Amino acid sequence: MAEIKACIFDLDGVIVDTAAHHFVAWSHLADELGVEFSKEDNENLKGVSRVDSLEYILNKGGLVLDAMTKLQLMDRKNELYLELANQTTKDDLLPGIEAFLIELKNLGIRIGLGSSSKNAPMILELLGITSFFQSVVDGNRITLSKPDPEVFLMGAKELAVQVNQCLVFEDAQSGIDAANAGGFHVIGVGDAKTLNGAKAVIPGFHQMNWHSILHLLRGE
Ligand code: BG6
Ligand code: MG
Repeated sequence: MAEIKACIFDLDGVIVDTAAHHFVAWSHLADELGVEFSKEDNENLKGVSRVDSLEYILNKGGLVLDAMTKLQLMDRKNELYLELANQTTKDDLLPGIEAFLIELKNLGIRIGLGSSSKNAPMILELLGITSFFQSVVDGNRITLSKPDPEVFLMGAKELAVQVNQCLVFEDAQSGIDAANAGGFHVIGVGDAKTLNGAKAVIPGFHQMNWHSILHLLRGE
């Protein structure tokens, strides 16, 4: 296995748990549209861009809307989302993530963010961790949503590493698929029963360090 020189982190569900905010905002909108929206639907939308998420809900309800209405709905969803996400603070960092970022920095491992969210830079600021990242690729910069590997390929390029020198951390199946499609090493964050195709799945970064991650990656 090539030496790992960089790590790319997904944001939502890996660094901070914003899924609940997305759920509240989409539920509200789905309600207005008369479409049923469950927690399971929300799971399916993890890692999925705003526009594709809206299409999912419209499809579910058998609704066909014009482009302008869709834009208005997406803006409205984002307003609802931001009302909650704007209150994010350092306290919302998931357990162990900041210590892990500090360790990577001290080891000289390059750090990137690979998120589908257009709000990612703002959330990093609110969390107070922007300065850890040498590359931030977010939903504003990509044309193809996960499971396309574009978001991670752009990150690897900016971090000046080959894909096989780069480890991706992802909580969404679409993100794991994206990393695999790009030829990256990938570790899932969440439930091993529901995430497929990762080298290993960890519940989170608490009680993890670089040494234990490398062990998992090598299947030891
Ligand atoms: C991802 C989330 O990180 O970003 C998705 O997992 C979300 O649920 C997507 O839809 C897009 O986010 P935003 O902030 O651009 O609407
Ligand atoms: Mg995620």
